[in-house]
Amino acid sequence: MWKGRFTQDTSSLVQQYGESVSYDWRLYPHDIAGSIAHARAQKNAGILTAEEFSQIEEGLTAILADIEAGNFEFKTSLEDIHMNIESELTKRIGAAGAKLHTARSRNDQVATDTRLYCRQAIDDLVKLLRDLQLVLVNKAETYAASVMPGYTHLQRGQPVTIGHHFLAYVEMLDRDAARLMDARKRVNISPLGSGALAGSTINLDRRAIAAELGFDDVTRNSMDAIADRDYIAEMIFAISLCGVHLSRLSEDLILWCTAEFAFAALADAHTTGSSLMPQKKNPDVCELTRGKTGRLVGNLMAILTAIKGLPLTYNRDLQEDKEPLFDSIDTLKLALAVNTEMIAAMTMREDRCAQAAADPMLLATDLADYLVKKGVPFRHAHELVGKAVAVAIATETPLDQVDLPAISEHYGADTGEIFHLHRALAARTNPGCPNPELVMQQVRLWKDLLAQN
Ligand code: ARG
Repeated sequence: MWKGRFTQDTSSLVQQYGESVSYDWRLYPHDIAGSIAHARAQKNAGILTAEEFSQIEEGLTAILADIEAGNFEFKTSLEDIHMNIESELTKRIGAAGAKLHTARSRNDQVATDTRLYCRQAIDDLVKLLRDLQLVLVNKAETYAASVMPGYTHLQRGQPVTIGHHFLAYVEMLDRDAARLMDARKRVNISPLGSGALAGSTINLDRRAIAAELGFDDVTRNSMDAIADRDYIAEMIFAISLCGVHLSRLSEDLILWCTAEFAFAALADAHTTGSSLMPQKKNPDVCELTRGKTGRLVGNLMAILTAIKGLPLTYNRDLQEDKEPLFDSIDTLKLALAVNTEMIAAMTMREDRCAQAAADPMLLATDLADYLVKKGVPFRHAHELVGKAVAVAIATETPLDQVDLPAISEHYGADTGEIFHLHRALAARTNPGCPNPELVMQQVRLWKDLLAQN
């Protein structure tokens, strides 16, 4: 399709090296929709007769059906999806097909197709994110009032509710959805009409084409429109960060499923056994999510590095945008779906969680707050509680049974109140705290929000 000035055939190694149809074939519905919109604008500009436009529209619609039915042969000799479809169209309808590429380049065509592809992927991903959020909200509801230790440095810190822990992930996933929806605003702009880099002397109605394809606007600078892959980098970033969140969730679940923690149990359907050790039940899904996140982050490095040294406008390096993009989208979609299913079916061992949170030591901070309420400056209170902790450790006595008044006159006879777990949680009445009532408020809020999506 570009052989006019060449006297030699392309080396077969070069064909093998440069073909993209083996992966960009999946752009086909967008390529066809873009071509039909482009052809309609050509008809309206008098470049195509009504008859030629119908031939193109029908020809492309038939090709779409054939691809969908698996009756289309993609040829690597035709490089990419764009030339595969156009060449087949011309083969089928003749002269009119050869007019389709008027006032268009594969450069604005590929940017159009990938933007449409990204838009669809964003909508799919946001839906999957909402499904996972809902499953986590349901878990939070089930365990709204169940206590467990909260950790810093993977050391028991303070008691929290299991529901509060699950809702932390609902927040992360919400930011992931918001990031994708924000990226959508920049994705959904039509580059068609930018041509190879400098537009065309044949002026088609760019806004009409954009409207037909559901774009919100048209790009303002043809050179930027051709060179821009920010929208792909943004998507891969948003996907990577979501992967990082799922990876952290996986790590929590892996720990919880150890015999050492034994806080949670995954369903058999979401675990695997060992071919050697008959007793094993392994959290492979969590490990795969954690492992695959490495690849998502790698894809982000790949796209950023591919773009960084490129002079304006199109360079063939840009063809390298698609494999990391497709891989990231596919990987996250599956990760979200499998995590949704797995978390819906998992159970928490409330007895074990409560046991782990039962050590009165976890309320040492509350004891310091008690002293503060008696007028002791916090730094001094911290030191007085530290002394009590030291006695508890040295004498192997639970903190609530240490003779506190012997350590300081600030300790009254009422310190026993402090070591009541449920009272301690209920005392946290500020927004954002693990108080079971507040967790339930959040659960209701999320259910309302998610029902609107
Ligand atoms: N397959 C190419 C890509 O993905 C399409 C654009 C080709 N443009 C060009 N000037 N060779 O980037």
